[in-house]
Amino acid sequence: MIIQKSSNPRIATFDPDNFSFGNTFIDHMVICEYENGKWGDVKIVPYGAIGFTPAMMGVNYGQACFEGMKAYKDKEGQIFLFRPEKNFQRINKSAKRLAIPEIPENVFMEGLKTLVDIDRDWIPHGEGKSLYIRPVVFATEEALKARISEKYMFAIVATPAKSYYTAPVSVKISDHYSRAANGGVGAAKAAGNYAASFYPTQLAIEEGYEQIIWTDDCSHEYFEESGTMNVFVRINDTIYTPKTSDKILDGVTRDSFIQLAKHRGIEVVIDDVKVADVVAAQKNGTLKEVWGVGTAVVTSIFEALGYNGEHLELPKLASGESFAEQLKTDLVNIQTNQAEDPFGWRVLVEEQVYSV
Ligand code: COI
Repeated sequence: MIIQKSSNPRIATFDPDNFSFGNTFIDHMVICEYENGKWGDVKIVPYGAIGFTPAMMGVNYGQACFEGMKAYKDKEGQIFLFRPEKNFQRINKSAKRLAIPEIPENVFMEGLKTLVDIDRDWIPHGEGKSLYIRPVVFATEEALKARISEKYMFAIVATPAKSYYTAPVSVKISDHYSRAANGGVGAAKAAGNYAASFYPTQLAIEEGYEQIIWTDDCSHEYFEESGTMNVFVRINDTIYTPKTSDKILDGVTRDSFIQLAKHRGIEVVIDDVKVADVVAAQKNGTLKEVWGVGTAVVTSIFEALGYNGEHLELPKLASGESFAEQLKTDLVNIQTNQAEDPFGWRVLVEEQVYSV
């Protein structure tokens, strides 16, 4: 590993009580380049721009995928990653689907842990605070033939994160657009999946909704995901979530919610979730909750579903009655070392001294 420390660190100017998520970047980043059939040295370098031209294949053909994960600081100042092996496995699953060469485990894990350790002072401590980490891999060859690139860059950048109160939102059940197709790239965290969602989401926002519940591309009769998240439905006291497939992202938060719900003794059904069943449950009063889960916001609770021009309200549950809230609390307590971790999900980031 090559470590080049920033000669002009910005950490002294960072206010952990007043920062903007997503565009405040920590002092360093990981980079590793692939060419001639192999990955080179893993480098920690000062965060900043890297020169590429508009002929870069990654921007022309979208051969790019990423991950989202977080590091947490407990009250003693210890740093923990949450299930990082899941993100490592998934970036390679995405990479394989996009014909990007596999990222070696040491490139991902050593780069990740060293970056988080070197910039540990950037990780805010406190309720809802964390470091959002973005591993990304993209094609860098300058070539305009539509084919697999021969050059890539793997990088990790990170931004401090905080929880912001997210009021329950109204979401539109899609009756036209879809985010994935059978045999497509829905299960990959492909950059292009997000680009393709922006226009339909903008239309939904213009109609007064904040997100789309994505339905299957063939019939629009089945729930798939919600916004950039996996989706959960509670009817009476049973939770339903679609099973993963080549159209649905195998979310780390999704998997954690399923395990935590089972741990609490809540029945979880992982199967097709039919729009008609959810609508019928809303009409007969058995639909209790619908929510999305993802790394960035953990949980987004829905107050209403828009379907075929109808506005279907969800019940306002009294405090302590929401499964979504209970499971979020269980998860965050484990992530932030405020509760036992019976699943072995936390990974301590050891503090090291680096000779540079
Ligand atoms: C996540 O929740 O991790 C996401 O994928 C959202 C991200 C695109 C900001």
